Amino acid sequence: MNSTVVITGAASGIGLSASKQFLAQGWNVMMADFNNDLGQKVYKELSEQYSPKQVAFAPCDVSNAQSVDDLAQAAHQAFDHVDSVINNAGIFVKGAVHEIDEQAWDRVMATDVKSIYLTTKAFVPEMIERKSGTIVNTSSISGLQGDYNMAVYNAAKGAVANLVRAMALDYGKYGIRVNNVNPGPTMTPMFKRNPQSVIDEFIQASPLRKLVQPEDVARTMFFLASEESAPMTGENIPVAAGFAI
Ligand code: NAI
Repeated sequence: MNSTVVITGAASGIGLSASKQFLAQGWNVMMADFNNDLGQKVYKELSEQYSPKQVAFAPCDVSNAQSVDDLAQAAHQAFDHVDSVINNAGIFVKGAVHEIDEQAWDRVMATDVKSIYLTTKAFVPEMIERKSGTIVNTSSISGLQGDYNMAVYNAAKGAVANLVRAMALDYGKYGIRVNNVNPGPTMTPMFKRNPQSVIDEFIQASPLRKLVQPEDVARTMFFLASEESAPMTGENIPVAAGFAI
């Protein structure tokens, strides 16, 4: 039987690349995204390219408990069980602490951090029962360092960078591995919203003089979800074109 992965934020950027990566490796993919229109569009394309039995899409707000429970139900309707969860959905809001309004602060923390609590509650019980599973969270190099004008993102991704250790400790005895991928500046729709001059500055600041591509992160997510990374748990793994050194 094929392995099954649930990928959040799968309609765009890194999550879309990850969906393609897992499909190409023969996994079943349950795609989930807040953006229903875009999600349905990319789902249609992928289900035509692969077997419609191999891929499904569910609209989901990862910051909402009911929505995440509905996602778990959709995953079990489409596929027998879930082997891996990729917590990829995330948002970014600019500003120093005093410049960020309360709603924006709460929205980032809920989308980037609480979402992992919710998906874990929804999917980890079956992994505990089956004594196997992998969870890959998406932190950032911004979870490992401070950045100017990125206070809530630093707070959120920093929380994810330490949460992975707690999850790895608590679930290791059940054969469940939990790791983070920590992308550096990656050329996704989220990053392309920066002015070209800012993008050029980032390129010059990289020791490799380049930005990360979504496919680079997707390959690492696949590695961390698969048996290839069997001895690894509780790790933060930068994929960052040298930004985090
Ligand atoms: P993106 O904006 O291209 O894609 C994010 C996807 O998540 C979108 O399809 C969006 O609809 C979805 N999403 C947003 N809020 C959601 C919610 N509440 N529920 C469900 N889906 C939701 O972003 P990108 O760049 O692909 O980012 C993916 C992850 O990688 C995020 O966690 C981000 O913080 C992280 N990251 C990105 C970096 C970059 O430079 N692009 C660098 C470091 C980390």
